[in-house]
This record gives sequence, C-alpha cells and structure tokens, in this order.
Amino acid sequence: MGEAFEIRAAARSDRREVAEMWRALIAHHGALDPTYVLPAGLEGALHDQVERAFDRADCGIWLAAAGDRAIGFALAEVEPGARAGDPGAAGSWVHELWVDPQWRRRGVASALVDRALDFLRERGRAAPNVRVEAANTAALRFWRARGFREHSHVLTLDDGPGAVPGGANTG
Ligand SMILES: CC(C)(COP(=O)(O)OP(=O)(O)OC[C@H]1O[C@@H](n2cnc3c(N)ncnc32)[C@H](O)[C@@H]1OP(=O)(O)O)[C@@H](O)C(=O)NCCC(=O)NCCS
Repeated sequence: MGEAFEIRAAARSDRREVAEMWRALIAHHGALDPTYVLPAGLEGALHDQVERAFDRADCGIWLAAAGDRAIGFALAEVEPGARAGDPGAAGSWVHELWVDPQWRRRGVASALVDRALDFLRERGRAAPNVRVEAANTAALRFWRARGFREHSHVLTLDDGPGAVPGGANTG
C-alpha cells in the first residue's frame, strides 16, 4: 500500500465504488448500535441515492483514491428548499463520510471534508451540519477535531427493537 492519495470529484463511472463504500458505512453503523435498523430495500435505496446525488447540482461526491483504488468518499449537499444566501447553515450537510480502515489517521477524511466544505461555501454555506450517531465516538472525535460543535441533540423514541430508524443518510 502506497502512502499517497488524491481527492477528486466522483464521476458517474465511480458509482459502484461509491455504493460499495456507502454500504460499508451503513454496516459500520449497524455494528456500532444493535438497535440500528438497516433500511428495508437497502440496495435499491442506495442505488437511488447515488444516482440522485449525481443528478443534483447542489450535491457533491468526492473520492479519495490511492492509485486506482478508492479508499474513501464524502457526500455533501445543500438540501432542496434551502434558500441561497441564508446566513444560517440550515439545509447544508456533509451527509456521508467513509475512509477504508487501513487508511485511517492519515488525513484522508480531513482532505475529503476540505473539498466538501469548499463546495458548500461556494454555495453560500459557511457552517454546515453533520449528523453523527451517538455511539460513533471516533467520528465525534474527528468532527470535534475539525471544529464542529454540538448545537442540538436528536432524540428518538426508544420503545423496543426496531425503534431506531436506519436511514439512507448515515452521517
Ligand atoms: C471518522 C473517519 C471518517 C475519520 O477518518 P480519518 O481519515 O481517519 O480522519 P483524519 O486522519 O483526517 O483525522 C483527523 C483528526 O481527527 C481526529 N480523529 C480521527 N479519527 C479519530 C479516532 N478514531 N479517535 C480519535 N480522534 C480521531 C484526530 O484528531 C485526527 O488527527 P490526528 O490523526 O493527527 O490525531 C474514519 O474513522 C471512518 O471512516 N470511520 C467509519 C465511518 C464513519 O464513522 N464516518 C463518519 C460518520 S459521521
């Protein structure tokens, strides 16, 4: 494994790699929280989410690549309905972030997030949000190290198995 990696905008021809890493991210969340429910029809939903991301001008996907191997990806979006020029960050998200376990702690996620934040800033979004599962302590440390701070908590009714919804946007 070489040390060098590059960040580039993903193309539709990268859809298979993007879906593969997205699947790994969802599995990662499943392993972190036993109550996390994998979305029904995951494969179809993933396919639709990837295509939707490529279709939307306000959605960007970046790949980290080492040689010809994809080792990470990030997805950022200004959500539909968010008004351009809003001073607040509502509607501005880094929705997905994943780095191959063998490549962690080498700045890959930081480089991906830099590109994602540039993309959102170009669209007038200075302070984007990220949703992080409570059990994902490594990710919380990463985002805090990147200057993100908690401004709210999302609470989900915990009334038995299956109560915590898995979603296509997995953080
Ligand atoms: C979270 C994740 C994206 C971080 O990727 P990464 O490429 O290792 O991150 P970086 O190398 O850019 O880390 C930058 C800084 O964040 C902090 N950080 C990152 N991972 C950390 C960890 N596991 N524990 C503590 N701090 C961490 C450190 O301060 C690190 O700087 P340092 O290595 O010089 O100490 C990666 O662990 C991952 O893919 N996890 C599984 C998927 C996931 O949880 N995604 C995020 C969902 S919100």
